[in-house]
Amino acid sequence: MTRVVHVLPDAESAATAVVDRLFGLASRVGEQERPFALAISGGRTPEPMFRALAIREGGPKDWSRWQLFWCDERLVPGSDPRSNFGLAQRLWLGPAHFPPRNIHPIETGVPVDEAARRYETTVRGYFGAGDAPTFDAVVLGVGPDGHTASLFPGASALEVVDRWVVPEPRPSQPPAVPRVTLTLEGIGRARTAIFLVGGADKRPVLAEILGAADGTATGPKLPAARVRAQDAVEWFVDSAAAPTSSSR
Ligand code: 6PG
Repeated sequence: MTRVVHVLPDAESAATAVVDRLFGLASRVGEQERPFALAISGGRTPEPMFRALAIREGGPKDWSRWQLFWCDERLVPGSDPRSNFGLAQRLWLGPAHFPPRNIHPIETGVPVDEAARRYETTVRGYFGAGDAPTFDAVVLGVGPDGHTASLFPGASALEVVDRWVVPEPRPSQPPAVPRVTLTLEGIGRARTAIFLVGGADKRPVLAEILGAADGTATGPKLPAARVRAQDAVEWFVDSAAAPTSSSR
């Protein structure tokens, strides 16, 4: 597995770089004549990415070859501003006329344990049993505490190895609503994990995760630092969030 860090001037260019990367991966997958399976996250950071996806020109005219999943979800209705599905739907899927049959949201109208179980069934049902890689790409963010998806520092979900999807009934960061999240094991089945990170408030935690703060014991233990993928973990970071180049 390789790790690569791209530093882009600002949030817009980081988002555009991720979109370019996704289209590159999707076209390679298209050559193999199979659908491109992508899992996305929520939060503020992916907003410019969703907008860029919605107006993408020269990409596939037809989203029918993309299959879309979520890395995590907050248990609120899709119309709630906190919904990860709702955000993607408003900014990308609706405007782009993404085919609804290719959208695989996490159910939110059931108790969180049941929602996690159902999503595990959805994901395993799509990819099949066995050890083969699953998602072609997952797009993740990072919280200032080092969480990713809804995997929070110290949470028991981090140690789950026999499930791809688990409930997180009490997230340690806002919004304080129950969540469903891929596990590290579920994320680790992806071929490529892409982190999109921006803003000065992320710089200290990125310094720890990317190893700039040599000697800290916490960095490698943070959830985002524990993410693995089958082929590569790729970081797309804006200059406000990037640790200084001498320390990367
Ligand atoms: C969620 C996300 C979460 C997010 C980070 C970063 O649903 O909350 O999936 O892991 O990616 O918290 O969020 P921001 O982009 O808002 O900083």
